Amino acid sequence: MHTPRHGRLIGASLGPGDPGLITRRAWAALQSGARWAYPVKRAEESSYALAIVRRGGLAVPDDAEALVFPMTHDANLLARAWTRAATRCVELLAEGRDLVFLVEGDASTFATFGHLARAVRELAPGVAVETIPGVPSFAAAAARTGVTLAEEDETLAVIPANYGVAVIDRLLDEFDTLVLMKVKPRIDEVVTLLEQRGLLASSRFVERVGAPDERLVDDLASLKGTTVNYLSLMLVQNPRRTRDDTPRQRGCRPRRAKVASATEMTQEPEREQEKAGTS
Ligand SMILES: C[S@@+](CC[C@H](N)C(=O)[O-])C[C@H]1O[C@@H](n2cnc3c(N)ncnc32)[C@H](O)[C@@H]1O
Repeated sequence: MHTPRHGRLIGASLGPGDPGLITRRAWAALQSGARWAYPVKRAEESSYALAIVRRGGLAVPDDAEALVFPMTHDANLLARAWTRAATRCVELLAEGRDLVFLVEGDASTFATFGHLARAVRELAPGVAVETIPGVPSFAAAAARTGVTLAEEDETLAVIPANYGVAVIDRLLDEFDTLVLMKVKPRIDEVVTLLEQRGLLASSRFVERVGAPDERLVDDLASLKGTTVNYLSLMLVQNPRRTRDDTPRQRGCRPRRAKVASATEMTQEPEREQEKAGTS
């Protein structure tokens, strides 16, 4: 049941780095008088999400609150941090003021916000939650590198690279484009796989897209043996992927049909009408 005393918890997606990609709705939420909360990896550490807003020209309110989400695999440490963060959110929401949580990229894409909202609701089931969608890092990376993620009936998969190269190898045969998120710890293995598969030329590496120190790398072999930033991803395309010829529904035709001449394509609606007896 909604508790009127509580403010709303708002997940404001800020896009991956360029403040020009903050949506009008997120911008309005930031300026609505709501209290701000933002994620940091350690107390006193800078916040990437907060930096996006600063670059956009907004002053950070004095009462903005940092919530610590440590980067660790220690389950106990993580559970304690989540409980602490969620408890603090509930305390703030109980003051009756909305709480806007700043999210890098999109709040529904591998983001802290979903987990935080669930944890808050467990503690205070009546709290209203709003998610403001935004530009995910891979969409901005595709735009910056001129990569088309998918067109017509092409397939696209977005996965964390920590599934490992065996899974990535298999998915390369099933999807036209793979987005490999969280690629940092797997860089060398993934580059080796792409070398073996002859896919280096159709792959891109993008680090901190939209930030002042953004890095776009075409020569993926040059990344081997180097350390990359956590905020990095790969866009991998497999132009040689073979498909079965199972006819798909209109709008999702097999690849061969895609290269039909422009004349054929423009004739199609007429043929459909003829078949339906409506011309
Ligand atoms: C916890 S996820 C956050 C994803 C984010 N919510 C989004 O919508 O893109 C972190 C991973 O997202 C990717 N990522 C996030 N921001 C990025 C950026 N600015 N540039 C490149 N990759 C980024 C990286 O793969 C990173 O390891």
